[in-house]
Amino acid sequence: MDLASQPVGVFDSGVGGLAVLMEIKALLPDEDLVYVADQEWAPYGRRTLDEVRDRSVAISAELIGRGSKAVVVACNSASAAALHHLREVFPQTPFIGMEPALKPAAENTLRGAIGVLATATTFQGELYASVLDRHANGVEVHEVAAPRLAMLVEDGLLDEAESDLKELLAPMLAAGIDSLVLGCTHYSFLHDQIRAAVGPDVRLVDPAPAVARQVRRVLEESDLLNSSGGGTAYFTSGDPGRLEEQARELADYSIAAVRIEIEDQGIGQHAP
Ligand code: DGL
Repeated sequence: MDLASQPVGVFDSGVGGLAVLMEIKALLPDEDLVYVADQEWAPYGRRTLDEVRDRSVAISAELIGRGSKAVVVACNSASAAALHHLREVFPQTPFIGMEPALKPAAENTLRGAIGVLATATTFQGELYASVLDRHANGVEVHEVAAPRLAMLVEDGLLDEAESDLKELLAPMLAAGIDSLVLGCTHYSFLHDQIRAAVGPDVRLVDPAPAVARQVRRVLEESDLLNSSGGGTAYFTSGDPGRLEEQARELADYSIAAVRIEIEDQGIGQHAP
């Protein structure tokens, strides 16, 4: 079978990656996509780097086993823990990952102070250290690790997230940041709450559209663009009914999800 007509795999710990998936679908409507939400194991932000790395290998093996021509790690925590390793383990497959978008924030700051909101896992990884090193020269970077925001999004408790956000972001707002980098894909679904917490003058930097453009670039360069697909298959290691409901509530998306078992040697789909 022609490799270009194979799907692009996309994964996250849960619903956050749907925000990235939606950007990819808008930009590349003729690609077939396979989405895996590892909801049985969420949140990744409370796991060790080793745990998230092993889990990312198992999910990638499953996606590649299902024919994925490229894999999008639609999760900052998994990218921090595993991106480098995944490229070593699966050298034939292009991987597109996420890193906190410090570059555009640092380039455009007027006050020389920016904020980054992410999971603790994302801040621990070498990837974040290298992003800081490459892009934050001469800019004050205020970081805050949010222990439960991603789970509040998973649970649909967006109002509760608003009070967490006010508390978490107060110190960096007092320090005068003018841009806030959303360093976790779940936060795309908290735009309104984050806007309410930071006020009208702080620029929110969400990398999801840039990641979709990077997917297009990688597929173009490898001559892997599809012009005859457009379907998406949704899988979760948790409850498929819950993922369907979350997609509807968070994104007004109507999907049909199927449960999968994620194992080291690939995932076996549960018999109905
Ligand atoms: N959406 C993920 C990220 O971008 C992880 C959230 C979590 O599972 O803690 O970091």
